[in-house]
Amino acid sequence: MALDIRKIRDDFPTLTREIHPGIPLVYLDSTATSHKPEAVLAAMDGYYRRSNANIHRGVHTLAEEATALYEQARESIAGFINAPAARQVIYTRNTTESINLVAYSWGRTNLQSGDLVIATEMEHHSNLVPWHMLAAERGIRLEFIPVTEDGLLDLNEYRKLLTLGPKLVAFTHMSNVLGTINPAKEIIRLAHEAGALTLLDGAQSVPHFAVDVQDLDVDFLAFSAHKMVGPTGIGALYGKKSLLDGMPPFMGGGDMIKTVHLRSFTANTIPYKFEAGTPAIAEAVGFGAAIEYLTAIGMDAIAAHEHAITEYALERLEEIPGLRVFGPSADKKGGVAAFVLDGIHPHDVAQILDRDGIAVRAGHHCAQPLHEKFKIPATSRASFYLYSTTAEVDKLVEGIYKVKKYFS
Ligand code: ALA
Repeated sequence: MALDIRKIRDDFPTLTREIHPGIPLVYLDSTATSHKPEAVLAAMDGYYRRSNANIHRGVHTLAEEATALYEQARESIAGFINAPAARQVIYTRNTTESINLVAYSWGRTNLQSGDLVIATEMEHHSNLVPWHMLAAERGIRLEFIPVTEDGLLDLNEYRKLLTLGPKLVAFTHMSNVLGTINPAKEIIRLAHEAGALTLLDGAQSVPHFAVDVQDLDVDFLAFSAHKMVGPTGIGALYGKKSLLDGMPPFMGGGDMIKTVHLRSFTANTIPYKFEAGTPAIAEAVGFGAAIEYLTAIGMDAIAAHEHAITEYALERLEEIPGLRVFGPSADKKGGVAAFVLDGIHPHDVAQILDRDGIAVRAGHHCAQPLHEKFKIPATSRASFYLYSTTAEVDKLVEGIYKVKKYFS
């Protein structure tokens, strides 16, 4: 069913603001972060106004209420990705921290010098640097699935890399630059056949289409709330129970322990083992509200809307002389259009578009190796979400023509 865009846009206060006097916001940067609906703001505000207390520590009513809200949100998140149990969802700060948790805890326990981790050439820095750090610290090897000219993963090369006996295949579900939606289920199946575990960076997929961890059979999934209409400062790591049970704690402190003595401690069970210290409680409540908001609209309807917008945007952008969009055609990608304009620096494009209230990101988008691969220092990037409209795409196209005129 088509989305009621007008109603959806009314839910997001930031979308109604003017960026300059008389110039409304055209927000095309949801890949960086999404806006937040009233329901999420109200849930967080309500938590602080009514139920603020520390969790898992008190027996008083308020503490119990706060704990219940925090744990209900975990249940919602688990349901959203079809995790078998809520305890397999660990709260982290964001996707980056989730990946670092795996690299630190699983990686430092299970990887030895010479062990191979496979990533891809389209990774965000957050799924590269933690592995670089392990390579420097314990001599693990890294190999990368190449990206083809049209922005797809070269699966033939992947099959060859798998013969080298990797321990882990860590890859993005959807590129934050090319928009490519990778065939995760197939990549995971092939990894498992080769005896490797898998880590999926779901920062750009979980917010935009239904992701089912049991159907994918993925071992670890990392994602952030702020890209899916939730607050900043909270994300999640899903893991298979046997893996999480076998991993040592990531950080030490309160809540992650069962017992502590002066010279020893015993760790708590999952998920608390990985949640040291007072967590982001209000943010967890907001995360839960975000999940409920997206669920009520329906992830299939959101994906269909974004697909239609992306198709329209690619068609319109490709009409512009001297403009090149990176990545595959709309049927293989999500709502991202990263582009370069002949002879005009991507930062200049973004800056001039901002005069018309149009927010796009410019730079290497934390994917510098991918830009190196395409021999460009940067791109301008427009990205779309459930509240994006074709009228906004039209404004973008109009704005780009203005940029071209300015530099002609
Ligand atoms: N990963 C975010 C982006 O692509 C910050 O913009």
